[in-house]
Amino acid sequence: MTVAVYLPLADKTQWWVDMLQDLLPGWTVQPLDEVTDPEAVTYAVVWRPRTGDLAKLPNLKAIVSIGAGIDHVLADEALPQGVPIIRTVGTDLTQRMREYVALQVLRHHRDMPRQLQAQAEKDWHAIVVPVAPNRIVGVMGLGNLGTAAAQTLAGLGFTTRGWSKSPKRIEGVETFTGPEQFDDFLSGCEILVNLLPLTDQTRGLMNAELFGKLAKGACVINCARGPHLVDEDLLAALDSGQIKQATLDVFHQEPLPTDNPFWDHPAITVTPHVASQIDAATGGRIIAANLKTYEETGTCADLADAGRGY
Ligand code: NAP
Ligand code: GLV
Repeated sequence: MTVAVYLPLADKTQWWVDMLQDLLPGWTVQPLDEVTDPEAVTYAVVWRPRTGDLAKLPNLKAIVSIGAGIDHVLADEALPQGVPIIRTVGTDLTQRMREYVALQVLRHHRDMPRQLQAQAEKDWHAIVVPVAPNRIVGVMGLGNLGTAAAQTLAGLGFTTRGWSKSPKRIEGVETFTGPEQFDDFLSGCEILVNLLPLTDQTRGLMNAELFGKLAKGACVINCARGPHLVDEDLLAALDSGQIKQATLDVFHQEPLPTDNPFWDHPAITVTPHVASQIDAATGGRIIAANLKTYEETGTCADLADAGRGY
């Protein structure tokens, strides 16, 4: 079997190639840019593939996304149709997202930005906030990551809500389903976490209309994809006070351009798409195991559904 690997950074690509080659003895693993016999390539392992690259590999059995989201693969306008896409998920990814969501929600809950500002001003200003059970927190998306995040928040004592496409039962979490229950889910939410996949249905969902349905002065955390957010609507909602603070891990353009107003905004925390990243050591083992299973059985547990977009 021959595996072609592509990530936008060449040194990262080589790192993944070396890791996968060690884990797949007997297979050939090479950077996609060094493939000399495209017909021999049976698997592609990619992050943000360039448009048209995958179409040059006529015998692909599957495409592996180095990550949970597959939107970056589906964005390839020349993507070969009908080739299965395998996500890369696992307990490390889930654990890292739990940590990130807990950190950011607690930070907003305890009003740390204002507390730190008081410290900078040498102002002994005790901020008293409600206890967690009196704080309504909502998680959009109840897949691998959203479910883990909601369970973590419920475990911290927050009044936790979750919203998904199909009905869910999660202990300690009030769940809402589909567009018809979206307004009930949002109503009164004081901290909103986005963990939806990017699809035609979810693109631009974090907009002025949504912000207006949250509690006045709510905080929002986007750790899914940049295009979920309408950037100018967030800036307007921060200006009006409808939204008090935002934490953004993902952006329309990454790296976030240095002239983007988010960098300097006093009510926005920017993190560079680090909420939960697969590292080559753990991710390599997951990908190698998925490739072996797929090669032996023609399927594997982490197959995405390209038709629904996640
Ligand atoms: P997942 O397991 O595929 O779960 C997606 C969830 O979203 C499901 O609960 C699904 O509902 C729900 N959903 C999808 N479309 C919906 C819609 N139109 N309305 C309501 N709910 C909808 O995904 P995951 O593994 O948890 O990952 C979620 C996303 O996180 C990824 O797609 C990726 O973009 C992002 N991510 C970000 C980072 C980071 O570092 N910032 C890291 C990893 C992943 P059903 O359950 O009913 O299908
Ligand atoms: C990261 O953003 C992922 O999709 O895993």
